[in-house]
Amino acid sequence: MKQIIGVGVIGMGWMGTVHSRSYLAAADRFHDSGFQAKLVVCADDVEERAREAQERFGFEGYTTRWQDVITDPQVQVVNIATPNYMHLEIVRAAAAAGKHIFCEKPVGKDPRETAEIERLSREAGVLTFVGYNYRWSPMVQYARQLICDGKLGRLTHFRSRFFAGYASNPQGVLSWRFQQEFSGLGVLGDLMSHVVDLGVTLAGPIKRVVGNRETFLRKRPLAAPGVGTHFSVGQGGPMGDVSNEDYAGALAQFANGVQGCLEVCRVIQGHKCQFAFEVEGTKGALSWDFERMNELKVFAPDEDGVHDGTVRIVSGPQHPFHARFNPGAGVGLSYEDLKTIEAHQFLKSVAEKRQGEPGFAEALRVAKVLGTIERTWESERWENVESSL
Ligand SMILES: NC(=O)c1ccc[n+]([C@@H]2O[C@H](COP(=O)([O-])OP(=O)(O)OC[C@H]3O[C@@H](n4cnc5c(N)ncnc54)[C@H](O)[C@@H]3O)[C@@H](O)[C@H]2O)c1
Repeated sequence: MKQIIGVGVIGMGWMGTVHSRSYLAAADRFHDSGFQAKLVVCADDVEERAREAQERFGFEGYTTRWQDVITDPQVQVVNIATPNYMHLEIVRAAAAAGKHIFCEKPVGKDPRETAEIERLSREAGVLTFVGYNYRWSPMVQYARQLICDGKLGRLTHFRSRFFAGYASNPQGVLSWRFQQEFSGLGVLGDLMSHVVDLGVTLAGPIKRVVGNRETFLRKRPLAAPGVGTHFSVGQGGPMGDVSNEDYAGALAQFANGVQGCLEVCRVIQGHKCQFAFEVEGTKGALSWDFERMNELKVFAPDEDGVHDGTVRIVSGPQHPFHARFNPGAGVGLSYEDLKTIEAHQFLKSVAEKRQGEPGFAEALRVAKVLGTIERTWESERWENVESSL
């Protein structure tokens, strides 16, 4: 008999629907795991979204009050996919009720909130998980293996960028993401959280940073409440102020001497969703780009340099997780497959009653770096990543 884990999802926008589908898909892709999610209740303050999600995914019920999800005795796991400003309040209630928590990045709307969220859940003794989904790409997992096995030698460089074009259209509406009140940080939270998570995971802890920011598009058309998404495009009408950053960049020095360069932007032409990294070491190098997420480029020098060059490795069943989705090499995974792996890893930790990774401890590690970059916007000089926020 399979262990059944009751799940409640809060916020039925983009991520809420992706997570719901991922819990269902995980039951199939990892059918031999001995546990699976039951979709108990979904919540959205826009009733139509909650009702539609119930029908689409087969939740037993829906509600417009997120508090109902927390108090439902069948719910063991609360999945938070609301705008960032609500995360702290929901975590506080869920942790107090002893529910395990999946929270989307950047967890808190700013690094101080992430620290508070980590403390609340740790003190309550609940299990946590975070949506750093790019970690789960088979090629990222394989890259980590190569680094851990010493194939690159001693690491020397890490560069990463997340150049997304999702806000490049000046008529893209002023959704919650562009407003400090609802989102907190702009891309420093939204995209740099992914970059720092992978940076720290692959290259180790970051010791000090210096960063800068820019907001290229300072006004956007107002969004109609309860309608559309942050991908919606305005049709003229009144404009509102963008109150957080479109771009953030930082130089980073890692504790092991790795020299890093990190950049993120949501307003950029020529890139759609280029989350990419390059890592170099004394014996080799590798690079990955989410836009071609099923490929990893690996450089290994030979002794006389005659055959020096980069090998393009294509994901196949011999790489982590690939065979769960496709039996053949070169038949690649997609974004939502990463979310399915993530859902499985979280449910596994709940079924086994042990904290998995990435949880709120890893989110706090990221938040400390983000908070330090934020501080350098004012000080305009290198700052050490503090041990506490
Ligand atoms: N890991 C990733 O790749 C990834 C990608 C996108 C978004 N995210 C994160 O996911 C979260 C949600 O982002 P999104 O793009 O899905 O946003 P979204 O705007 O598409 O969805 C948010 C939903 O929350 C609902 N909501 C707002 N107030 C509510 C309330 N009081 N009660 C219940 N529901 C409420 C909205 O109606 C909406 O349906 C954010 O934290 C974001 O940073 C992560």
